[in-house]
Amino acid sequence: MHHRPTSSADVLIAKVRGRPQAMVRLARSLLAGSGRHDDARALCLEALALAPDDAELATLARPLIARNIEPWYFTMMQDEARHALYGQAICQTIRPGSMVLDIGAGSGLFAMMAAKAGATVIACERDPVVADAARAVVAANGMTDRVAVVSADALSLHVGVDLPEPADALIWDNLANNLFGAGCAGTLHHACAHLLKPGARVLPGRVEIVTALATDLRPADRTMSTAAGFDMRAFNHLSPALATVTSGAINLRSDSAVLFDVDCTAAMVPSRASATVRATRGTVHGVVQWLRFHLAPGLIYDTSEPQVRAFGLQFHPVAPFVVDEPCEVTIHGEHDVRDTWFWVERGA
Ligand SMILES: C[S@@+](CC[C@H](N)C(=O)[O-])C[C@H]1O[C@@H](n2cnc3c(N)ncnc32)[C@H](O)[C@@H]1O
Repeated sequence: MHHRPTSSADVLIAKVRGRPQAMVRLARSLLAGSGRHDDARALCLEALALAPDDAELATLARPLIARNIEPWYFTMMQDEARHALYGQAICQTIRPGSMVLDIGAGSGLFAMMAAKAGATVIACERDPVVADAARAVVAANGMTDRVAVVSADALSLHVGVDLPEPADALIWDNLANNLFGAGCAGTLHHACAHLLKPGARVLPGRVEIVTALATDLRPADRTMSTAAGFDMRAFNHLSPALATVTSGAINLRSDSAVLFDVDCTAAMVPSRASATVRATRGTVHGVVQWLRFHLAPGLIYDTSEPQVRAFGLQFHPVAPFVVDEPCEVTIHGEHDVRDTWFWVERGA
């Protein structure tokens, strides 16, 4: 913490320093309460370093230290199939001695994989707390000579400042279940235009946004019917417009259709698309969307596979309808390089 003691909070911080109990209590009350989350976190870390075996302090400090850290950092680490595919793709894509830019470094896993394949890596992570943790992971794996973690938004990176020269390859993982939700379009465009050598490899280089009709196996999670004898359906206009589900929560009711086929090195992605699918008998409650990553020739990671832990399926409810006989249904989609929307149109 490098604040000069100018406010009353700064004076208090100076007063409690060296007394772990008081430091954590101050972090909880005054600092977190007034939005000084970075200071609260730093004071907690300092307190825990002074009293590493104090369980009460650890319990009180933890929510401040891990504030805003999403659970998916942990679930995605269990996606062994993804790690294996990325490991192979990195070995195919990255040449020993090359320089790799890793955007959305997270825990640092892909940066370390690239370093293991012989690259030097600039790993860019915009959340400073996550970047610090990635640095610790890289150090614990003895790779600080090959991986430099830069705590910055990838949009602010400059060659000559953050990278010594344009990179030979890009690994990017600032991803969302709908592909775009974490802002990848802007960072990819910036990287391709300013941070990469001409012809640099991009991993993944292509992503398909795939859709199908689906039956919701747990409609009560998203819509009301009756409760305690009351008709609750008038509440349903407030049901979620989008839900993240697992493959066990839906049954596919059609073949799949790729609505957007995204070349990750191209500037433009069409914003609207449609495709016709063949609906099978049953009730259709919505459109389910997933992603198909083309990591390297022959290496595809499909997020609809049941073992996938790094991604969820996006379920977009539509007005439910029953399919008595197999028929054609058109799925329409739109995106604004952040959100995606899908709806259906039935034939006459
Ligand atoms: C899905 S996680 C990365 C997971 C990582 N590959 C791993 O194995 O831990 C995406 C990360 O991208 C970061 N991120 C999102 N947008 C970014 C941006 N514009 N610049 C840098 N990092 C970004 C997020 O903070 C998040 O840590």
